[in-house]
Amino acid sequence: MKISASFLSIKEDLKNNIEKLDNSNIDYLHLDIMDNVFVPNKTWKFNDITDLLENTTSKKDVHLMVKDVKKYIDDYSKLNPEFITFHLEATDSVLGTINYIKSKNIKVGISIKPNTKVEELLKYLPLIDLVLVMSVEPGFGGQKFIENSINKVNELYEIREKNNYNYFIEIDGGINDTNIKYLDKCDIVVVGSFITSIGNYNEAIGKLKGE
Ligand code: DX5
Ligand code: ZN
Repeated sequence: MKISASFLSIKEDLKNNIEKLDNSNIDYLHLDIMDNVFVPNKTWKFNDITDLLENTTSKKDVHLMVKDVKKYIDDYSKLNPEFITFHLEATDSVLGTINYIKSKNIKVGISIKPNTKVEELLKYLPLIDLVLVMSVEPGFGGQKFIENSINKVNELYEIREKNNYNYFIEIDGGINDTNIKYLDKCDIVVVGSFITSIGNYNEAIGKLKGE
């Protein structure tokens, strides 16, 4: 299981702490991008993110919580991320968005909010590289894990095995060293405040990995 670390909850000395996070035992840096339209919160401008991440080397896992998906794909593809994930609920042109991200030679993810059912994703599953299950309502870090997200993960796992699909299963929101034990069917877990609220990031990561 890989760890994608979100820096959304880091409140001070952001650039240095992002570099500290980048140098710890993580597999991806998770970029939470919000527009205050699709979710009631706004994060960094693209130029600010570029500056904040200029010295980082981890693969980037971009999570777009935005309405104008195409504009943000144009920006964030410039960072050459490993994944760009958009929300199923954000656009009517899901196929067009999948193909647009693919045209940039970037792996495509689709995220579903807690109230969105897995069956709404079915027709896209053969086409994408990652499914991001939200285990909190998108918009803020530090929220409580929504238990029934585990059922969605297990359902996506069954569908993938049955149909021989290739997508990664990722989960995002409220994850800690206790509930991570129920997420063994996930390939990637996004963790923010459990890591960044502890001074020693590798200590928190060790707890998540059961070390
Ligand atoms: C919420 C973000 C999550 C969040 C995870 O909208 O998508 O990535 O930052 O942070 P924690 O682990 O603190 O819930
Ligand atoms: Zn996220």
